[in-house]
Amino acid sequence: MTVATEDLQALSSQTRTLLTKLSPWAAEAPRGVQSTWTEHLARLTELAQFLDAGGVRAEPGPGRALPPVSPEQWMQFGRLLRDKRNAAGLSRVQLARRAKISDATIKFIESARHPPSRATLIRLIDVSDLKLHWADVPGHPEPPAPESPSPVDSPRLRGPLNCLLAPSYDPLSLHLELTSYLQGAGGYLEQTYAYLEPGSAAAYRTLCQTWPPVARLRSLMPLGELAQQIVWLSGGAPLQLLALGCGEGRAETQLAGCLVDAGTAGLELCLLDISPPLLTSAYHHAVSHLASLPQVHVWALQGNFHHLPLYAALCRPAAQPRRLITMLGATLANLDHEPRFLQQSLVDCHRDDLLLLELPVAPASCADPALIPRHDRLFASGVPAPYAAWLGHPLWRHCPQAERIEFHWELETRRPVPGSYALHAIATVTSNQKAERRFSVFRIARYDFPPLIQCLRELGWEELSAEHYGSEHSLRLYRKV
Ligand SMILES: C[S@@+](CC[C@H](N)C(=O)[O-])C[C@H]1O[C@@H](n2cnc3c(N)ncnc32)[C@H](O)[C@@H]1O
Repeated sequence: MTVATEDLQALSSQTRTLLTKLSPWAAEAPRGVQSTWTEHLARLTELAQFLDAGGVRAEPGPGRALPPVSPEQWMQFGRLLRDKRNAAGLSRVQLARRAKISDATIKFIESARHPPSRATLIRLIDVSDLKLHWADVPGHPEPPAPESPSPVDSPRLRGPLNCLLAPSYDPLSLHLELTSYLQGAGGYLEQTYAYLEPGSAAAYRTLCQTWPPVARLRSLMPLGELAQQIVWLSGGAPLQLLALGCGEGRAETQLAGCLVDAGTAGLELCLLDISPPLLTSAYHHAVSHLASLPQVHVWALQGNFHHLPLYAALCRPAAQPRRLITMLGATLANLDHEPRFLQQSLVDCHRDDLLLLELPVAPASCADPALIPRHDRLFASGVPAPYAAWLGHPLWRHCPQAERIEFHWELETRRPVPGSYALHAIATVTSNQKAERRFSVFRIARYDFPPLIQCLRELGWEELSAEHYGSEHSLRLYRKV
C-alpha cells in the first residue's frame, strides 16, 4: 500500500503536535524517569522526520535520538557547559543568541532539568568560542556527517559552462512552422523537421539502437583506423572536433576516445545539434565516457548547422587548434544540396582543417534508374517500419484527422552532386475529411565516388582516404586546401 503525501504530512504534523505537548511534561518529570522521557521524545522526533521524508528514508537527521545517558551524566554535562560558557565570557542570553536557541533551553541544560536534543547540541557545538566538542557529550553520539554539497556545488556543475544556445536558434518557431505545414495541403519538409519533436527524437533513437541493420552498421565503423590517420596527419597536435548533427553522439564520442588513444595531445569536442533531447543525451554520453581523459573538454551547442556563419563562438581567427568537422550517420547525405552546404554554411574552415563524412555508396548508377530498385536494398524493401514510426510521428501528432499514413520511397536522379541519386520518403496521409495529402519528409542520397571526389575538390576539399564498410557505407576523410 502506498500512503498519499498529504496523509504523511498530516501524520507528521500530528506527531509534532504530540511532541510539543509532551515536552513540558518531560521537563517537569522526576529525575529518575527523565532519560526515559528523553528517549521517547527522540523517537517521536525521528518518526516525524521519517514521515517528512515520505516514509522512505531513515537517515540520521539533526534530531536523531541520543544514546541513553544517566541523569548524573547530564548534570556533569550541564556544569561543563556552564564552565565553558563562562570561560568564553558569554552570558546565557549571549550564548542563546549565538546558537539561535532560547536562553531557557541553556538554563535547562545547565541545570540538567532538560537534556539537550541533538539539534540543540549541533547548534551549541557550532559556536566555536564555546570550545564544546562532540567528545564532551555524554554517550558520545556520532557527530553529524559533513554536509553534502548542494547541487550547484557538485563537481559536475562546477566545471566550465557546458552548453550554448546559438543566436537565431529558436526551436519554438521551427515547431510552429512544422505544425502549420502539416496542416496544409502537403509538400516538402527539410530534413531538420524530422528531429524536432521529443517523440521524433525518441523514435529516431529507437531506430538507431534497436533496428539490426543500423546497429550492425555502427558496430562496423572503422573509427579507430580513421583516428590514427587523423592523429598522424596532425602530428599529435591538439584538435577541435566539431560534431555537426551529432544526434546521440555515440560515434562522435567513440571517435574522440580513439583520437586520444591514437595520441592526440588535446581535444575539444563541440557537439552541435538542432534537437535538444538528442543533444542533451549526446552531452551526457560524451561526458560520462570521456571523463577519465583529462585532455578532452566537451561542450555542446544547440543550433542549426545551416546557420553556422552566424555563430561567432565557433570562429577561430588564428586557425588554432586544427579543426576536424564530422558529419556522421550520413548527415550530409540527408541534405537537399550538399555542395551549397559545404560552400555556404561550412565557413571558417582553414587550410589543413579536416572533414570526416560518413556516406552511403550507390549500389547502382543513377544513369540507369531501372537498375536501382533491383540493387538498392533499402529502396527494394520499402520504407522500413522503424523509419515509418520515426518519420510518421509528427504527422500522426499534427494531422488530427489522419486515418492512415503510408510511406513509400521515390527516386530522385537529378541531384546536385553528379553521379548520386536520392531516395525520398513520401508519406501519404488519408482521412475522410480532407483530400489525400502527400509529404516528402526525408531523403537519403547514395554516391558514386569519383564524381563526388571531384565535386568536393572543386569546393576546396581534397580527399585523403576512404574506408568502406558494411558493403554500402564509407567513411571519407577530406582536407581543406
Ligand atoms: C542522421 S542523424 C546523425 C546523428 C549522428 N551523427 C549519428 O551518427 O548517429 C542527423 C542529426 O543531425 C541533426 N540535425 C538535422 N538537421 C539539423 C540542423 N539543421 N542543424 C543541426 N542539427 C541538425 C539531427 O537532429 C540528427 O541528430
